[in-house]
Amino acid sequence: MDIEVRPCASVEELRDALNAISHYFGTENQMEDAERFARWTELERVHAAFEGDRVIGGAGAFSYRMSVPGGGSVPAAGVSVVGVLPTHRRRGVFRSLMREQLADSRERGDLAAFLFASEGMIYGRFGYGLASRMGGVSLPSERTSFAVPFEPRGAVRIVDLDESARVFPPLYEQVFAQRAGMFTRSKEWWETRRLFDDPARRRGGPKMRVLLELDGEPAGYAIYFVKQDWGAGGASKGVVTILEVVTPTPEAARELWRWLFDFDWTSEFNANMLPLDHELFMLLAEPRRMQFTINEGVWVRLIDVGAALSARSYNDGEIVLEVEDAFLAENAGRWRVTPAGAERTHDAADLSLDVTGVGSVYLGGFSFRELVRGARAEELTEDAAERADALFHTDREPWCAEIF
Ligand SMILES: CC(C)(COP(=O)(O)OP(=O)(O)OC[C@H]1O[C@@H](n2cnc3c(N)ncnc32)[C@H](O)[C@@H]1OP(=O)(O)O)[C@@H](O)C(=O)NCCC(=O)NCCS
Repeated sequence: MDIEVRPCASVEELRDALNAISHYFGTENQMEDAERFARWTELERVHAAFEGDRVIGGAGAFSYRMSVPGGGSVPAAGVSVVGVLPTHRRRGVFRSLMREQLADSRERGDLAAFLFASEGMIYGRFGYGLASRMGGVSLPSERTSFAVPFEPRGAVRIVDLDESARVFPPLYEQVFAQRAGMFTRSKEWWETRRLFDDPARRRGGPKMRVLLELDGEPAGYAIYFVKQDWGAGGASKGVVTILEVVTPTPEAARELWRWLFDFDWTSEFNANMLPLDHELFMLLAEPRRMQFTINEGVWVRLIDVGAALSARSYNDGEIVLEVEDAFLAENAGRWRVTPAGAERTHDAADLSLDVTGVGSVYLGGFSFRELVRGARAEELTEDAAERADALFHTDREPWCAEIF
């Protein structure tokens, strides 16, 4: 029977589309789950694959803005909830979903799409390149000394959902302007997702939210869970899992991480999604004790190469890129990139690469020299990768603080 792919037209269809990926989590969405999901994205941004009137696959996109180097942002599809039922896998259903989703995103004006991939083999063929890395840490409580001790002067308060929904977003927005790869959070997202204490998603006790104030002003926030446990003789084996710490200034970072690490009744602090250039490497006296483990961050797909490249900032220089794009042919061709942006050119190219490679360097998380060393780009003129890196270099690693 033929498969038809189209946007969901009802919350029932949304529930069924979500249930394709939920099948692999071993869960099943009810109407109330689909209604909650519908608060975060437009129904018609979730595509469903139908066999007759049965939904056998789904793929969704959130309407985000994604921060880019230089403090700006681009409209971007935050791709999520992609799944095809095991009864229909490897028949091209996912390919059809991706084709519809990218065409729809382009029509809506998205310049890029980004996502966290469940497996690295899935998205490259559709033009996504790995664009950032992140790290997980596991720090024993007796190894949290800072290299440069200081006298904390900030005040930390536990805040409830209402207050955190008012004071956390402006702090997040400050960091959004500092780091590429973050996404905008709607009011609903804050209230029903990041700050919401969903009992099914706890890692220990309830979700805790704290606000750091410096000179009476909000300066940073942290969200964490406490899981208490007791070992032989009644010694605490408690674990604090830190979900998110947002600190727009170095002082706030030092104050808030110190406050977190001074937590009593704890044997270990865990955090999973930290940027590679995290302050802790310099703050801690023994950074090795964090056991920082690097993992993939977001994958980026430029939907409109010219407009997306023009939306980020550059250093001095100029480079001509020959870009291949098998899935969105309109991006293919030669692009001259300068601090003024990107424009089509017929001039000879300095570097040739696939659109996945452009996605990898877009946020500043990878360099052209890494692409060349990894057989993802070819230099056509002397020192082309070095010159491209000088143009594209950013002084901060990209960071996406939350899986969507
Ligand atoms: C990943 C998934 C969506 C793929 O769906 P599908 O309908 O089987 O994929 P398609 O048949 O359209 O495959 C398209 C291509 O991708 C390849 N492919 C798909 N999934 C792959 C995987 N997990 N690993 C390697 N290759 C994969 C196919 O072999 C095919 O290659 P081809 O174009 O060279 O023939 C589906 O297997 C699934 O739901 N997996 C579990 C949930 C999941 O991982 N979702 C993604 C969340 S980020």
